[in-house]
Amino acid sequence: MTVDLDWENLGFEYHKLPYRYLSYYKDGKWDEGKLTEDATLHISESSPALHYGQQAFEGLKAYRTKDGSVQLFRPDQNAARLQRTADRLLMPQVPTDKFIDACKQVVKANEDYVPPYGTGATLYLRPLLIGVGDVIGVHPADEYIFTVFAMPVGNYFKGGLQPTNFLIQDDYDRAAPHGTGAAKVGGNYAASLMPGDIAHNTGFSDVIYLDPATHTKIEEVGSANFFGISKDDEFVTPLSPSILPSITKYSLLYLAEHNLGLKPVQGDVFIDDLDRFKEAGACGTAAVISPIGGVQHGDNFHVFYSETEVGPITRKLYDLLTGIQFGDVEGPEGWIYKVD
Ligand code: PLP
Ligand code: COI
Repeated sequence: MTVDLDWENLGFEYHKLPYRYLSYYKDGKWDEGKLTEDATLHISESSPALHYGQQAFEGLKAYRTKDGSVQLFRPDQNAARLQRTADRLLMPQVPTDKFIDACKQVVKANEDYVPPYGTGATLYLRPLLIGVGDVIGVHPADEYIFTVFAMPVGNYFKGGLQPTNFLIQDDYDRAAPHGTGAAKVGGNYAASLMPGDIAHNTGFSDVIYLDPATHTKIEEVGSANFFGISKDDEFVTPLSPSILPSITKYSLLYLAEHNLGLKPVQGDVFIDDLDRFKEAGACGTAAVISPIGGVQHGDNFHVFYSETEVGPITRKLYDLLTGIQFGDVEGPEGWIYKVD
């Protein structure tokens, strides 16, 4: 039985659900972890997560299928990325089994909030790893909290599979050339708040960042990766050490090649060569696939496919990806984890 919410009109907003998972790392090991009804974290005022940004997070979704069951999409990949992020910030890794088990426990405990099949809505999971305890020098923490909470969500960008416009930002970067851009850490998002605000206040969905060293190539969107479909049917995504390695992007690279016969290319996307693309989009867990109508760069406004219509290849990729996620289409082996 599901609760009564306006599923079709959910935005991407926090919603306090009954249960979340919490595990504590102390004396060099994780405790077993448990579900709790307490939605407040009680941590030391000197926690390194608060002062020095020693924290990391993830984002993944649970999907209700036509037969009423619930499944996760590639949670092992989120676990692996959190482990890489943990390494970068000298935090203990959360083992993959523990990560997936925590996600499943949270989904099961809040199952009434997993949106019904057919509404397009999903249950968004937010795993969070933070350094806590009494540390005031710039050092890694001795103690850590790993928590997973969840909420039902709808579209991240207005209209879902509707093209929206994005602002190419020259004045701000989200990450440095050898910084933490490839890690999913709050600091990257802190750096993106001001440019994101400028974009939103001027009517754009989000920022597209350029490579921080030369500002000549597209890197990624503030909350998603960038992809373009070239006029000779390549599925192109930027290759850079400072963008977040998007699980959705890697999934689309695979599907574009194996299901749609496109050539997958990870390489440079120069901003003065956007005419090579007939379609473009933003992809990510929250964003799913959001078509990019046009991009503003200085005084120049470039339209990819259309500001109002979705390109045919973008639509095919969307149908395929969401078909797999909601269980209507068989995906590659190992992509779907059932929550039983
Ligand atoms: N890039 C950024 C900056 C993001 O925040 C996200 C969201 O997680 C992505 C890309 C997409 O990654 P994924 O497809 O793994 O959700
Ligand atoms: C996600 O897609 O899971 C993200 O973390 C993006 C976030 C900015 C909402």
